[in-house]
Amino acid sequence: MSMLDSFLSRAPVVPVVVIQDVRHAVALAQALLAGGIDVIEVTLRSEAALAAITKIAQEVPQMMIAAGTVTTAAQMQAAQDAGAIVAISPGLSEPLLVAAKALQMAWLPGIATASELLTAMDGGLRFCKLFPATAVGGVALLQAFQRPFPNMRFCPTGGISLATAADYLALENVVCIGASWVASAQQIEAADWAGITRNAQRASALRVRP
Ligand code: 3PG
Repeated sequence: MSMLDSFLSRAPVVPVVVIQDVRHAVALAQALLAGGIDVIEVTLRSEAALAAITKIAQEVPQMMIAAGTVTTAAQMQAAQDAGAIVAISPGLSEPLLVAAKALQMAWLPGIATASELLTAMDGGLRFCKLFPATAVGGVALLQAFQRPFPNMRFCPTGGISLATAADYLALENVVCIGASWVASAQQIEAADWAGITRNAQRASALRVRP
């Protein structure tokens, strides 16, 4: 099993988080673990993101960490140096594809069209994020991708709620979803660790199609 395969197979939902204060990083990771989720996507959308990744990697080693919103090769390198084992991007670009190969970094690019999917396949990739999932066609688009692209697997992300998660997880080509509601920016800022653990329990109780 590849690193990406094992990251995406751990939990039905990958929590997508924005950490503004590095002091929140370890408590957040522990709150997710307490709710049964041992994967996290720390988006590089805050000053504290890379330091937060390092903190979690050092102090919560059970947590598998992806860096999210990786848009440049330099960010991918920085994320790997910080301790992320996966890089997740909103889109797919040649420089990122080249960087992922050079760094031997597990990479999950975002795609929204059949053409981008072909580029991903040409690059030897088997997993993509559908992004922004709801806006680009959601469940219907993933169903439509199944026949022409039977070997590709997806982590749809963007606009998926607890209520709609099951519709995605029932699809043959979906391995997991990404979502911010497990640990929202407001909950993290408010240090609402109990609320995040409850959300993680709800997320981990979702079932991926057997
Ligand atoms: C994001 O942009 O952070 C991801 O799309 C996940 O966020 P959402 O679950 O709120 O869409």
